Amino acid sequence: MPTPSHADHLEELRHRVNNRLSELAVQVAGHDAGLSEAISSSLTAGGKRLRPLLTALVCEDLGGPLAPAIDAGCAAEMVHTASLILDDLPCMDDAQMRRGQPTTHRAYGEDAAILAAIALLSGAFSTVSTLRGTDAVTRNELTKILSGAVGTRGLVAGQFRDLRSAAGAKGADPEAVNALKTGALIGASVAMGAAIARADTMRKRALADFAEHLGHAFQLYDDLLDTSGDPLVIGKDIGKDGAKATLQRQEGAAGAQVRLNQHLDAAHATLESVFGRDCRMSSALDGVFQGQAALIVRARRTEGVSLS
Ligand code: IPE
Ligand code: IPE
Ligand code: MG
Ligand code: MG
Ligand code: MG
Repeated sequence: MPTPSHADHLEELRHRVNNRLSELAVQVAGHDAGLSEAISSSLTAGGKRLRPLLTALVCEDLGGPLAPAIDAGCAAEMVHTASLILDDLPCMDDAQMRRGQPTTHRAYGEDAAILAAIALLSGAFSTVSTLRGTDAVTRNELTKILSGAVGTRGLVAGQFRDLRSAAGAKGADPEAVNALKTGALIGASVAMGAAIARADTMRKRALADFAEHLGHAFQLYDDLLDTSGDPLVIGKDIGKDGAKATLQRQEGAAGAQVRLNQHLDAAHATLESVFGRDCRMSSALDGVFQGQAALIVRARRTEGVSLS
């Protein structure tokens, strides 16, 4: 669990992120009834705000300026929200609920949902390329980092392979899929924080390792929630990925849980090598994965396997 002072700081950061997202939503949403609501309600509906918090915490812990880190993190959150809108479409995971509300296509129509996702993507790139409080070289670096995470070396390729794996594609590699569909944007969120703080190459590399482990742990945890989570608590459908070639499907819930713990331990160890013990990021991670204990119990019950 996060220590009380770290928890307060995290809440304060989340508050700042949410306020800034509300401001940016007004700029991105435009004025067309039906589209404008689809954009702003998807972006301001809530969610854990993991990606902007990563950007802000990394930058802060490296001694960098907070305001541009929050804006860059909000850009990552716009990309993330766009990916969720698309992920929920009938031609993808066909989901009904997201962040405790009807999915964007159910509320506003598939046409508005697709256009809202495109508007959010372009809003994200406009935000980093015009970022206040940074120089042109940094803005250029941020644009490169974020665009690299979205395309066919990142999210788009990961989502495509994930969807095709449901049709029983041969040679499915769920670790590679998770790294692309989820790890790439988490990696970009961390890398943007490090770029704004002008971290040295050694720290940037260590933080990239941290983000890689976090990306794996996060998708493994999300897949466990897809089978064992409570839709009312997580605010989205469960049972959407049962037919996909996930690690959980290949190795069982207990096997996935073991891997998750290994990635989390490695993420914490890497963080410690950069920031020392008891850093705010480490504490924040504990908060994100705090439902784990309940899932371990359920995995044990359903599979009768020892996880120690
Ligand atoms: C869900 O992401 C999709 C994945 C990449 C696993 P989050 O669990 O971060 O969703 P929100 O932002 O909290 O709604
Ligand atoms: C989606 O993974 C990852 C994205 C890039 C959106 P999931 O399909 O498991 O995400 P959820 O469970 O619907 O949030
Ligand atoms: Mg999906
Ligand atoms: Mg999904
Ligand atoms: Mg999922």
